[in-house]
Amino acid sequence: MNKTQPFLILMRSVTAALCLFAMAQPALAQDAAKAPRKDLALKGDAVCTRCHGVDDEYPVLAIGQTKHGTVADKRTPTCTSCHGASETHINRPADAKERPKPTITYGLPPPRQDAKQVDVYFGVAGKKTDTPAADRNAACLTCHQGGKRTHWETSLHASRDTTCTSCHQIHTAHDKVRDKRDQAQVCYTCHKEQRAQNQRPSRHPIPEGKMTCSDCHNPHGSAGTKNMVRDSVNETCYTCHMEKRGPFVRSHQPVQEDCSICHNPHGTTTPNLLKARPPFLCQECHEPTGHRGGPGIFTTPGTSTSSANLVARGCVNCHTNIHGTNNPTSASGGRSLRR
Ligand code: HEC
Ligand code: HEC
Ligand code: HEC
Ligand code: HEC
Ligand code: HEC
Ligand code: HEC
Ligand code: HEC
Ligand code: HEC
Ligand code: HEC
Ligand code: HEC
Repeated sequence: MNKTQPFLILMRSVTAALCLFAMAQPALAQDAAKAPRKDLALKGDAVCTRCHGVDDEYPVLAIGQTKHGTVADKRTPTCTSCHGASETHINRPADAKERPKPTITYGLPPPRQDAKQVDVYFGVAGKKTDTPAADRNAACLTCHQGGKRTHWETSLHASRDTTCTSCHQIHTAHDKVRDKRDQAQVCYTCHKEQRAQNQRPSRHPIPEGKMTCSDCHNPHGSAGTKNMVRDSVNETCYTCHMEKRGPFVRSHQPVQEDCSICHNPHGTTTPNLLKARPPFLCQECHEPTGHRGGPGIFTTPGTSTSSANLVARGCVNCHTNIHGTNNPTSASGGRSLRR
C-alpha cells in the first residue's frame, strides 16, 4: 500500500503536464492552473490550496460542502484554524530533508467495517499523528466550547484521550457519527461489548435506524453518570417512556432508583431487556420463600418444591404493575404492585 505514496507525489508533479486530472475535473483544475492563489473551498485557504486540492488522495475540498465551508459565515474556519499556521510546512526550510508537517495534524480515522475501499487502497485509513490529543481538541474547542460540550473536560472520553476527530470526520459531507443510521458503527469501533449486546433478541431499535446511542448518551459528556443525556438514567428513560415516571401511589423502590438495575438498555437474551428472567431477577432482592404464610394459592398440596415452582413461573403474572401503580385498594392489601 505504502508504495502508492511516492506514486501519488509523482502524479502530483506531473499532473499539470499530463492534464490527467483536468480531464476528470476540468473546471477546478483549470482554475487552479490559471489562478493558483484563488480560494478553492474556504475563504483565505489559498495559502494551502495552491498545493492541496483535487489531486490530493484525501478529499480535502469536500469541506466546501459542509457547514465549515459556508463562506458567507464570518465564523467559518479556514485551513489554518484547524491545522495551525504551519509556516515551515508551507515554506519548507532549505535545510529540511523532508517537508515538516503542519502545526496540527489529526491522523485519519481507523478503518471501520464500512471504510470506503478507496481509503483502504490508499492506506490512509488509520493514519497516526504526533499532535497531542489535547492540542487537537483545543483547536476545535476554540469555536465549540460550551453548549453540548459543557461537560467535555470532565468526561471519560476526554480523560481517555478520545478526541473530537475520533468520532467526527471533517473533510466529508457525510459525517457518519451525526447520521442516526451510521452512528452506532462509529461507536462500535471502540465499544465492542455494546455491539454484541445490540445484536441480542431484545434490544432498542438501533439497527433499524429508529433510534441511536445519542438518544440516551451525550458523547461529549454530561452532568450525570455514564454520559446520559439527562441528569440520571431514569430521567433519560422518561424522555420516551413517560408512563414509567409516575408519581405512583405505590411505587417499587428499585424502579425509582435506577431502571438499569433490572434492564440492560443495550440488549439482552431475555425479553423486555431484562438482565435476568423472573423469578431469578426478583429473587436477587426478594426471599424465594417470601410468600411463606401467604394465601393458600401458593401451595400445591403435597410438595413444597412444586409450590416454589408455581411461584417461580408467575411473579409478573400476579405483580403486573411492576413499575408502580395508583391502585390503593388492591387485592394484595397494600401490596399494590398487584393489580
Ligand atoms: C508548497 C506546497 C504545500 C503547501 C503550500 C501546503 N502543503 Fe500540505 N502538504 C504538502 C505535501 C507535498 C504534503 C505531503 C503529501 C503526502 O504525503 O501525500 C503535504 C501534507 C499535508 C498534510 C498531511 C500531513 C501528514 O500528517 O502526513 C496536511 C494535513 C497538510 N499538508 C495540510 C496543509 C495545510 C493546512 C496547508 C496550509 C496551511 C498546507 N498543507 C500547505 C504540500 C503543501
Ligand atoms: C474544521 C477543521 C478543519 C479545517 C477547517 C480543515 N481541516 Fe484538514 N483536516 C481536519 C481533520 C480533523 C482531518 C483528519 C481527517 C478528517 O477528519 O477528515 C484533516 C485532514 C486533512 C488532510 C489529510 C491529512 C492526511 O493525513 O493525509 C489534508 C491534506 C488537509 N486536512 C488539508 C486541509 C486544507 C488544505 C484545508 C483548507 C482547505 C483544511 N484541511 C481545512 C480538520 C480540518
Ligand atoms: C474557526 C471556528 C471553528 C473551528 C476551529 C472548528 N469549527 Fe466546527 N463549526 C464552526 C461553525 C461556524 C459551524 C457551523 C455552526 C452552525 O451552523 O451553527 C461549525 C459546525 C460544526 C459541526 C456541525 C456541522 C453540521 O453540519 O451541523 C461539527 C460536528 C463541527 N463543527 C466539528 C468541529 C471539529 C471536530 C473541529 C475541530 C477539528 C471544528 N469543528 C473546528 C466553526 C469552527
Ligand atoms: C464519542 C464520539 C464523539 C466525540 C468524541 C465528539 N463528538 Fe461531537 N458529536 C457526536 C455525536 C454523536 C453528535 C450528534 C449528536 C449530538 O448532537 O449530540 C455530535 C455533534 C456535534 C456537533 C453538532 C451539534 C452541536 O453541538 O452543535 C458539534 C459542533 C460537535 N459534535 C463538536 C465536537 C467537538 C468540538 C468535539 C471535541 C471536543 C466532539 N464533538 C467530540 C459525537 C462525538
Ligand atoms: C476512539 C474510541 C471511542 C469511540 C469512537 C467512542 N468511545 Fe465511548 N469511550 C471510549 C473510552 C476509552 C471510554 C472510557 C471507558 C472505557 O475504557 O470503556 C469510553 C466511555 C464511554 C461511555 C461511559 C462514560 C462514563 O462516564 O462511564 C459511554 C456512555 C460512551 N463511551 C459512549 C460512546 C458513544 C455513544 C460513542 C459513539 C457516539 C462512543 N462512545 C464512541 C472510547 C470511545
Ligand atoms: C436506551 C438508552 C441507551 C441507548 C440507546 C444506549 N445506551 Fe449506553 N448506556 C445506557 C445506560 C442506562 C447505561 C448505564 C447502565 C449500564 O451500563 O447498563 C449505559 C452505559 C453505556 C456504556 C458504559 C458501560 C460501562 O460498563 O460503564 C457505554 C460504553 C455505552 N453505554 C455505549 C453505548 C453505545 C455505543 C450505544 C449505541 C450503540 C449506546 N450505549 C446506546 C443507556 C443507553
Ligand atoms: C429515544 C427514545 C427512547 C429512550 C430514551 C428509551 N427508550 Fe426504551 N424503547 C424505545 C423504543 C422506540 C422501544 C421499542 C418499542 C417497540 O418496539 O414497540 C423501546 C423499548 C423498550 C423496552 C422493551 C423492549 C422489548 O424487548 O420489548 C424496554 C424494557 C425499554 N425500552 C427500556 C428503556 C430504558 C430502561 C431506558 C432508559 C435507559 C429507555 N428504554 C430509554 C425508545 C426509547
Ligand atoms: C424491579 C425490576 C425493574 C425495574 C427497576 C424496572 N423495570 Fe421495566 N420491566 C420489568 C419487568 C419484570 C418487565 C416485564 C413486565 C412483564 O413482563 O409484564 C419490565 C418491562 C418494561 C418495559 C416494556 C413493557 C412495558 O411495560 O412497557 C418498559 C418500556 C420498561 N420496563 C421500562 C422501564 C423503565 C423506564 C424503568 C425505570 C423507570 C424500569 N423499566 C425499571 C422490571 C423492572
Ligand atoms: C434491586 C432489588 C429488587 C428487585 C430486583 C426487585 N425488587 Fe421488589 N422490592 C424491592 C424493595 C426494596 C421493595 C420495598 C420493600 C419494602 O417496602 O419492604 C420491594 C417491594 C416489592 C413488592 C411489595 C410492594 C408493596 O406495595 O409493598 C412486590 C410485590 C415486589 N417488590 C415484587 C417484585 C417482583 C415481582 C420483582 C421481579 C420482577 C421484584 N420485586 C424485583 C427491591 C427489589
Ligand atoms: C399467584 C399470584 C402471585 C404470584 C405468582 C406471586 N405473588 Fe407475590 N404476592 C401476591 C399477593 C396476593 C401478595 C400479597 C400477600 C400479602 O399481603 O400477604 C404478594 C406479596 C408479595 C410481596 C410483598 C410481601 C412479601 O412477602 O414480602 C413480595 C415482595 C412478592 N409478593 C414478591 C413476589 C415474587 C418475587 C414472586 C415470584 C417469585 C411472586 N411474588 C409471585 C401474589 C403473587
